[in-house]
Amino acid sequence: MNKVSASEVREKYIKFFGSSPRSHAEIKPAPLVLEDDPTTLFTSAGMQPLVPYLLGESYPAGKRLVNSQPSIRLGDIEEVGDNRHTTFFEMLGNWSLGDYFKKEQLPWIYEFFVSELGLAKEKLWVSVFEGTPEVSKDNESYEIWKKLGIPEEKIFYYSAKKNWWSMTGTPEEMNVGHIGGPDSEVFYDFGIELGMHEKSAFKNEKCHPNCDCGRFLEIGNSVFIEYKKVGENKLEELPQKNVDFGGGLERITAAVNGMPDVFKIDMFSGIIAKLEKKFDVEYGKDEEMDRSLRIVAEHTRAANALITSGIVPSNKAHGYVLRRLIRRALMHARKVSDSKDISLSFVDLSKFGIPIELKPEDYVQKVLDEETEKFKTVMDSGIKKLSTMVKNNQKISGDVAFDLYQSFGFPLELTLEALESEGLKFSDSDRQLFEAEFEKHKEQSRTTSAGVFKGGLADQSSEVVKLHTATHLLLATLRKVLGEQVVQKGQNITKERSRFDFPHPQKLTDEEVGKVEKEINEVIDKKLPVKFEVMPKEDALKTGAIHAFNEKYADTVKVYYVGENLENAVSREFCGGPHVGNTSEIGHVKIKKQEKIGSGLMRVYLALDN
Ligand code: ALA
Repeated sequence: MNKVSASEVREKYIKFFGSSPRSHAEIKPAPLVLEDDPTTLFTSAGMQPLVPYLLGESYPAGKRLVNSQPSIRLGDIEEVGDNRHTTFFEMLGNWSLGDYFKKEQLPWIYEFFVSELGLAKEKLWVSVFEGTPEVSKDNESYEIWKKLGIPEEKIFYYSAKKNWWSMTGTPEEMNVGHIGGPDSEVFYDFGIELGMHEKSAFKNEKCHPNCDCGRFLEIGNSVFIEYKKVGENKLEELPQKNVDFGGGLERITAAVNGMPDVFKIDMFSGIIAKLEKKFDVEYGKDEEMDRSLRIVAEHTRAANALITSGIVPSNKAHGYVLRRLIRRALMHARKVSDSKDISLSFVDLSKFGIPIELKPEDYVQKVLDEETEKFKTVMDSGIKKLSTMVKNNQKISGDVAFDLYQSFGFPLELTLEALESEGLKFSDSDRQLFEAEFEKHKEQSRTTSAGVFKGGLADQSSEVVKLHTATHLLLATLRKVLGEQVVQKGQNITKERSRFDFPHPQKLTDEEVGKVEKEINEVIDKKLPVKFEVMPKEDALKTGAIHAFNEKYADTVKVYYVGENLENAVSREFCGGPHVGNTSEIGHVKIKKQEKIGSGLMRVYLALDN
């Protein structure tokens, strides 16, 4: 077990950035699950809720902010199993909203690592941005690091792939409307013996912080958010220069304790110890076994965080992610368990001060158990299906195995295992075919989760922004035409359409559809301004603004309204934006389609009609 706990590291960080001369205001982290955001599933970076303020809007608590943000990143799900990757993590973050910049941020973060946490100077390596034709090389950060005492051979220039940060990647990859900039990372060196250079074909290659050999652990990233993508290949400088620092709490804690394995820090060691006991195995003895134990531990913790944030397993959106985490954990539990009697346990997140609202243990355990039962049924029927095929001498091709994977989440390992227990094996070519199909599927699901992330508040393409405002008008109009019982039950916006779910017993009549369309288009024709006010949640509630998920909002919220003033607005909603500035920008809209999606639940599709 580690000597310094994750809670201590978190506390030290908040205190360090909160104290003079840094004087940051501690702000409440955003909820992990973003139910009121139509385009993003989870909070995946501390800066996400701060975008309007990084763009220049004034933040009530000031220009220097700090917190620890529980986050989920699904892009890394396939990496989980090594000694450092997790889907759920806490990100220590500090921000300058157009206030201090590089020459304060880098010395401060260095002081935090070295003086506050006691990391050995010699173990720190750093990286800086090498520049592009559009954005110059970050010599300034290089010089600052040198002055702080980092030797030149430990300062590396890298391209945008490594040293540029935005929610959607490099300058070329970034979504239009997104903000980002060059960054400078700090790495902790666990020593050459940890890298594979000594023992592998890479032996004669020079090791460097981003070589992924296992020797270096990235522990912090200072992003200098100075640019906005405004068009294909076009960046524009923001009116203010911002700092967005993010450092994984679990990783920093591992470095502080000199442990290259994040699963050995206090946040994980208790879970691992329980698994060792339950499965009667020992962690740290066998690579394959460790990988499975880490996956069970990590996914169980992530599942606990999601369940406690109000998600239940399903085949859609948040629920699907939760289901996938639970099933992957169960599958690996099954791999390490002798008895095949598998279950997942409640993880007490409160013990580590993770800033997340908690649900009671018995509730969380019940959700885990129910999903486990479902998975067992699925596995049993999958095994039965396979056995029958084997008994009837049917050939189990890669296609069939893949189909099982797709429809039941029945993974390769289990298919092979089931076949072997029937005394049969995959032929090599079947196996190759299966693996090829399997990889293809993995690639697709990776792109899908990346897409969800990329789609983030993110997709600020003009079509999405127009449809976003139009959707506010849709809700206001539906309430007017059908009644105030209409609330938003779900929403998803793409460039092509806005999909909107609300409680209503039957399809709208043609007359109702016509009326709704006509009213929205009339409002649009009035060329009304679309504005917002930032205010304390209590005050916002008093304005009568629509707020679908009241309890999930932060203390300070934004209310968007359509009209000259808030009191007489046509629509008022709690919302993060973005929206058009005037309804006339929308053009006209029409309801393209409607369908009944459940008892008492309707779905309409709204599209631009220009
Ligand atoms: N927003 C930056 C990151 O997530 C700090 O890495």
